Amino acid sequence: MKTIIEPFRIKTVEPIRMTTIEERRQLIKQADYNLFSLKSEDVLIDLLTDSGTSAMSTGQWSALMKGDESYAGSPSYYHFTAAVRDLMPFKHVIPTHQGRAAEHILTSIVADGHGQGKIVPNNTHFDTTRANFEDAGIEAQDLVIAEGLDTALEHPFKGNMDLDRLEKLLAEQADNIPMVETTITNNAGGGQPVSMANIRGTKAICDKYGKPLIIDSARFAENAYFIKLREEGYADTTVKEIVREMFSYADGMTMSAKKDTFSNMGGWLALNDDEWAEKARTRLIMTEGFPTYGGLTGRDMECMAVGLKEIVNEDYLQYRIRSIQYINNGLDALGVPVMKPAGGHAIFIDAKKMLPHIQPLQYPGQSLAIALYVQGGIRTAEIGTFMFGRQPDGSEKPAPMELVRLAMPRRVYTQAHADYIIECFEELRNNIAEVPGMEIAWEPSSLRHFTAKLKPLSM
Ligand SMILES: Cc1ncc(COP(=O)(O)O)c(C=O)c1O
Repeated sequence: MKTIIEPFRIKTVEPIRMTTIEERRQLIKQADYNLFSLKSEDVLIDLLTDSGTSAMSTGQWSALMKGDESYAGSPSYYHFTAAVRDLMPFKHVIPTHQGRAAEHILTSIVADGHGQGKIVPNNTHFDTTRANFEDAGIEAQDLVIAEGLDTALEHPFKGNMDLDRLEKLLAEQADNIPMVETTITNNAGGGQPVSMANIRGTKAICDKYGKPLIIDSARFAENAYFIKLREEGYADTTVKEIVREMFSYADGMTMSAKKDTFSNMGGWLALNDDEWAEKARTRLIMTEGFPTYGGLTGRDMECMAVGLKEIVNEDYLQYRIRSIQYINNGLDALGVPVMKPAGGHAIFIDAKKMLPHIQPLQYPGQSLAIALYVQGGIRTAEIGTFMFGRQPDGSEKPAPMELVRLAMPRRVYTQAHADYIIECFEELRNNIAEVPGMEIAWEPSSLRHFTAKLKPLSM
């Protein structure tokens, strides 16, 4: 059969409140042209993020009732750690309330009170990962391969680390590098996968210089499925086996369980090193909670345990990857400049190409995201100069790419929603030259895209 069906039925539905273009024009103005400031009930299709927005399964909802809320030693903690270790056999598994809490704890360990002068390389740091390191004075360097920065170029593993640059950096600065990180899939770089060979190669360089490799793992199952589809030698390997191999090369992981465990909340930090784990647990008690709950309820941990089993189901992963490709192909056929090939969790539009009349420092990605909301009530996220342009020294410079991300929540939207999204772009395309650039009216000192206020520039 050519048609891949959604491998689930819908038992509970959430109504969508319909709005008109005129209403949305007013609503986005009231939200100071920041999509994070919209009320979600004013959104028709919410593609702001795939984080914490999954539809949970009957298995997960029923597991919630098994949640044991004991302060210490809850059986839910043991169910959770067993499920993690079944896929990622790390010695220490430390629950946190979400991914950035794990990042924060890890940063405090590697900064060790004096981050200045230290460097952490990554294929591409995600915004919270970068912000955590920079806040501690650590330089966050992105070393993705050059192909990963060319949105139109077809390459099976555009998330790969540039191993030559990594080796050069370590050869020159080994004393200043406390750890190396790789992000699977590479969210800020278009949800593009990292190959097994690249993870293995990264580990070999880390071993040569005695540095730990940490995997930022939010979309590990999508990454593993791409390896199965695209990397020689893995077609007959199960996704579960691929996941175990990926993590066998790492010394630890940070995890946002709000993605590839279908949970609405949760995360963890896993480590092999006893000394780092001890420091992490001490910090965890100060900031998150006791080590057997780490800021989570017992029911959250039960939910993650079930989600970890469901996420490696290959029927699900086939549907997931194909449904993203469906929208990507539909937009490509319209001539919309999409990132190719399609990533694992989102469709990425190259706003620099779609709105060539808007300069990077006038935030073309934000302009496109606003126009999409007004056109069809679709909420997306800018990943470009609005998100990354402000430098730690206060200056502003264009980001390497001006992307708009349509992140698809897991198991939430149907094919009719997908067709509607494609149709919105078709309508928008006709008036694209009239979409104005933006300027910032107010911004906070860091992570400005979440709360800044903007204004359209007059054309
Ligand atoms: C690659 C990556 N790392 C870390 C995070 C942070 O996780 P959380 O949102 O759970 O704090 C995210 C969230 O989007 C992510 O995509």
